[in-house]
Amino acid sequence: MLKIKPDEITLFSNYIHKLTGISIDQSKAYLLETRFGRLLQETDSTTYADLYHKARMEPGKHLEKKIIDAITTNETLFFRDTGPFDLLRHKIIPELIDSRIAKANGTRPSLKIWSAACSTGQEVYSIAIVLKELLAKGNYNIKLLGTDISDAAVTQASYGDYNKFEIERGLPKDKLIKYFSSSGSRWKVSDELRSMATFRKINLLTPFTNLGKWDIVFCRNVAIYFTLEDRQKLFSQIAQVLEPDGYLIIGSTESLTGVCPSFVPKRHLRTIFYTKR
Ligand SMILES: C[S@@+](CC[C@H](N)C(=O)[O-])C[C@H]1O[C@@H](n2cnc3c(N)ncnc32)[C@H](O)[C@@H]1O
Repeated sequence: MLKIKPDEITLFSNYIHKLTGISIDQSKAYLLETRFGRLLQETDSTTYADLYHKARMEPGKHLEKKIIDAITTNETLFFRDTGPFDLLRHKIIPELIDSRIAKANGTRPSLKIWSAACSTGQEVYSIAIVLKELLAKGNYNIKLLGTDISDAAVTQASYGDYNKFEIERGLPKDKLIKYFSSSGSRWKVSDELRSMATFRKINLLTPFTNLGKWDIVFCRNVAIYFTLEDRQKLFSQIAQVLEPDGYLIIGSTESLTGVCPSFVPKRHLRTIFYTKR
């Protein structure tokens, strides 16, 4: 494996931070070497600096997209940490539905849920399963959006297509049989679940307040890669797009203490969630 030089790490660290907000320091040489090995070969680059300059110069930005795909950590699974999905099923959805029915004044109540940084879609389909099992079909306007910065992740999420390893992570057998069908060694989400969600590419460190208001935002296991300043920017934007009685769910190892004063932490059983102050 070609060794990356300290000045090349600096080049990529600035570039990647500008593109994604992901913060990479000199200790991440091995990460860059393993993630970029294939791209060096594909582009016939003799050094990491060469790869960097090719990416910067390329007008179509195809290489830039590949760099984003390579550097993002898309680790995810169905019903990750379980707690947030129990929280959704037993507290958040029942509470929000009551309030949205009251607001709807006889019309069909709506519920809007955004999975920000949804990776390859497992979080979105886990939410869709909870909604499907809780809410009578046709009685609600549901908007379920999954977004991610990685083109490859968004593409896979929108196909809803998983290999054996991915499908076996976190998805109970009964739900696998009910909501997925197999074709060779791959599994595809049912049309019904797929039709509940839409997917888009969104960089969370660019303005996104034009997305409108959301009742529930999942933003889990992405801000851990950002600097404090970028986390502050991200969560203050989320505060702007969350309804006043909305819910924010972050990763089980994350906290908003000292990050965003707009949010108050609350606990339901073992799970922490946030509402607006
Ligand atoms: C570890 S995954 C988390 C997936 C899912 N939320 C979960 O908790 O299982 C992190 C995701 O954040 C995405 N990501 C990284 N930087 C981002 C940015 N600036 N904007 C949007 N998504 C980003 C990555 O592409 C990756 O898919």
